[in-house]
Amino acid sequence: MDNFKFYNPVKIVFGRDTISRIGELISQFGFKKVLILYGGGSIKGNGVYNAAVSSLSESGIDFVEFGGVQPNPIVNHAREAVKFAKNNDVDAVLAIGGGSVIDEAKAISAGYYLKDVWNIFEGTETIKKALPLFTILTLSATGSEMNSYGVLTNPEEKKKWSFGSAFSYPLVSIIDPGVQMKLPWRQTINGGVDSLSHIFEQYFAPGHAEPTLAIDEALMRTIIKAVNVLQDDELNYTARADLAWSASLALCGLTGVAMNGGEWAVHSIEHAISAYYPEVAHAEGLAVVFPAWMKYVSPDNPERFSRWAKNVFDADTIDGGIDALTNLFTKWKAPTTLRELNIEKSAIPTLAKNAVLKGTLGNSRKIDYNDVVKILEIAY
Ligand code: NZQ
Ligand code: ZN
Repeated sequence: MDNFKFYNPVKIVFGRDTISRIGELISQFGFKKVLILYGGGSIKGNGVYNAAVSSLSESGIDFVEFGGVQPNPIVNHAREAVKFAKNNDVDAVLAIGGGSVIDEAKAISAGYYLKDVWNIFEGTETIKKALPLFTILTLSATGSEMNSYGVLTNPEEKKKWSFGSAFSYPLVSIIDPGVQMKLPWRQTINGGVDSLSHIFEQYFAPGHAEPTLAIDEALMRTIIKAVNVLQDDELNYTARADLAWSASLALCGLTGVAMNGGEWAVHSIEHAISAYYPEVAHAEGLAVVFPAWMKYVSPDNPERFSRWAKNVFDADTIDGGIDALTNLFTKWKAPTTLRELNIEKSAIPTLAKNAVLKGTLGNSRKIDYNDVVKILEIAY
């Protein structure tokens, strides 16, 4: 096993009816006024907002709120939220929502102390401090509630980019799978596809840490089983909880221990797709690109891909494993071709150019512009 560092300071409070603890959890740190950040308003229809603000009030915590974070969140909205936070003199940020809300909250927390929040994505300013961040997760998918990464889009420049910082871990994240029981099916499968994809990005990377590979395989099987159960029984709490905790674990550092930082080529290709087609959900792009990427790179890494096919899908060949994955996505009603995303073949060169804006992708094999074109052609 290669040498490695593992660090994850996020306190997770998990389970039914845990949202009512948010006031107590924030007051333990002595904060008196928070900025509540949320998205399109689902939290106001499903009881999550009411449970959170009642708890804040009971603990004597003042709050101001800023809504309107959109799926595939954009930098201009984060800039407005930073101004609002400064005008209201808040001590901390409370993100209530899915990955988009939490990601934008991380950018706002850091942006509070910066000249311009987009600079952290370009690498022209460094984060030296950030407002403390608390989260209430309403959609298990990205793992943002338990990691230090954030992704925003700059629509004018067609850049969907990420940042990460040791100052951007949430202090506490509440995960109540009960509030995900009525998620639209599209969001449930997005959670399954994204969390599986986070494991793929690390499992197929160079490195051989048997505990990591074994944990990854167990999590992949657990996610698949949970989503299959939910497809027949959306109110199954055990499956919701299994999916929720697996999704958090999938990108909290654990699934990539001693795996050389992971691959992440497919995520970069997907971010190029969402930059041009913001209506495409992150996980939908991943469902389209992952099987194609696997077909393209698996001949370079037959041992790992064979092991994956066998241990996750009980398939005897690599192609059998990739087919099983594609069939699974189809069964879940996830798109598996660019065509299903309404993307023209003529867009492929533009998307490929965007995906490699920061340089070559991948790890075990370097993926350049021509490789991305070929992968997207397979995905078409
Ligand atoms: O806007 P609201 O009203 O909150 O509705 C959301 C949104 O429309 C809805 N939703 C969330 N919880 C719900 C609910 N609807 C009903 N009931 C609930 N309980 O779901 C929609 C999608 O939400 P969003 O937050 O956009 O989805 P997701 O969690 O999949 O986040 C996707 C974003 O995260 C980024 C993606 O690129 C994308 O921008 N990622 C972040 C990562 C990270 N920070 O580590 C890693 C990922 O790879 C990913 O790139
Ligand atoms: Zn992802």
